[in-house]
Amino acid sequence: MKGSSNTQLENRFYELYIDFFNRAEAERRWNVQKDIPWDQCNSKASDAIALIVESFCAESKHSLVLEEWLVRSGKRSIQEVRDFAGTVLEREWELPFSTPRQMMIYTTFQELSTGLNYKNLRRKAMEQGDKALATALSFVARDESAHYQFFQDGVKLYMQEDRDGTLEDMKKVLEGFRMPAQDLIPNWEVRGKTIIGEKVFSDRIFYKDIMRPILSILGTSRDELQALGEKLPELTVPPSLAR
Ligand SMILES: [Fe+2]
Repeated sequence: MKGSSNTQLENRFYELYIDFFNRAEAERRWNVQKDIPWDQCNSKASDAIALIVESFCAESKHSLVLEEWLVRSGKRSIQEVRDFAGTVLEREWELPFSTPRQMMIYTTFQELSTGLNYKNLRRKAMEQGDKALATALSFVARDESAHYQFFQDGVKLYMQEDRDGTLEDMKKVLEGFRMPAQDLIPNWEVRGKTIIGEKVFSDRIFYKDIMRPILSILGTSRDELQALGEKLPELTVPPSLAR
């Protein structure tokens, strides 16, 4: 019966959420003021790093810690940070997809991408001897991989329930994939170029380190998605970031 299978699915999503929440409380608590060695900020870190850090200031707790670094490193004034946050808040992010299943798939790819952005930026921070930023980014990256795990498990539940339909949605999501920051952050053209130039993220990185591994974890592949119907044009040329 359709009703009961929906209820079952809802219950399993709920269990997934409770498990996620409990683990977040037990294992991933960290404090912006206490857990970062703020005295080890490097005020000589490059401006490119600062621009990228600023570009990633979109998620609540994460934006707090990143803004703290921008101010403590002397890269931005408090006023500049506030003005920037203001412009981001003014832009409303429209959900890119309309159904819960499509949004869950989208978020899976987005969370893993976000985590990888932070990891790659962390590598830069280490290279430039900024222990404060590197520590902040490792907390933030760890949170992101937990978010990712949660959504990925959700997609698995959807696949168990309706594999074909879920794959159709996956194809749709991947055809027009863009990170929320691309629409939320002002002046994305310049920022995107810096992010690519510093090898923090690019379409190539997306295909290799995000799309391929996720599809394989979910037990599918680009070929299978492609075979569902017409070609996936946007997946064969570098689309989103380079735009
Ligand atoms: Fe996240």
